[in-house]
Amino acid sequence: MPKIICKAYGKINLTLDVLGKRPDGYHDLLTLFQGISLYDEITLTKGDSEAEEIVLTCDLAGLSTGPDNLAYQAAYLLKEKFPQIVGLRIDIRKRIPLAAGLAGGSADAAAVLLGLNRLYNLDLSLEELGKLGARLGSDVPFCLHPLTAIGEGRGELLSEVSSPSPELWLVLCKPPFGVSTKEVYQHLSQVQVTKRPDLAGALAGLQSRNRKLFYASLGNILENSTFDLYPQLQTWAQEIEALGAEKVMMAGSGPTLMAFVENKKEAEKLKSSFKKPNWSLEVVRTTTCEDLKGRLIADE
Ligand code: C5P
Repeated sequence: MPKIICKAYGKINLTLDVLGKRPDGYHDLLTLFQGISLYDEITLTKGDSEAEEIVLTCDLAGLSTGPDNLAYQAAYLLKEKFPQIVGLRIDIRKRIPLAAGLAGGSADAAAVLLGLNRLYNLDLSLEELGKLGARLGSDVPFCLHPLTAIGEGRGELLSEVSSPSPELWLVLCKPPFGVSTKEVYQHLSQVQVTKRPDLAGALAGLQSRNRKLFYASLGNILENSTFDLYPQLQTWAQEIEALGAEKVMMAGSGPTLMAFVENKKEAEKLKSSFKKPNWSLEVVRTTTCEDLKGRLIADE
């Protein structure tokens, strides 16, 4: 049966500022999104034309394979619009930690949209896929093209940064629990925000390759909320900083802590010296245009 394999890259936010609460319950953001090299692998297989349903499997126990899975919902959304999509099988090889602030679910949904677009020759543009994707989750539009982009609105209004980030290396350190994004946003109004990120400074730092300016400009407002809910995170962030990281901050709504270091060797070193059983520790780099070119592989 014809199939396609798609890499579903995760994301981080180099800056994340929350500008206010919206009437629809979401929050208006100003964020600098960045794709990372850690990905889930999504295999989409055209099924038996007699069978109507979507079948989803995942190699990780504990992740729902039913209609509440965002990858399932992405397929359902396209199936409703394009009746030629019948009897689809989706297999997920999960590598992005769950409930970690790395947009694992949104990445899978975006990969399903991209993959089905190719597998069934639907000829939808990235913009059209983005509009559909925004109905599934605020990060799905960015995950369709995860390089470096400014996100506004709920995060779905994107302007790509003309020169993407240079290769940055980091260690993703995720403690053995997840957090609810909704809870983190809700709790934000109850904490005092002291320092806001500086998007303009981060962009200037990227462009001029000024690491000092770049790191000084990064920041994530949601840290205030998640650290207040899980105070131990603050201590762990300090521990990671003491191991030689150039900058430590939280990914998305957390609880993953990101340790930025100078190169891959330093990343491996930090990873092996941070001795925490049951944590998920991943050395990753920022995504490149080359990564995105090779993300869809047809297997007819
Ligand atoms: O869009 P997504 O489903 O990923 O968002 C998960 C939850 O995070 C939302 O239900 C909402 O509570 C919160 N959120 C928000 N403002 C955003 C993005 C997410 O309040 N811009």
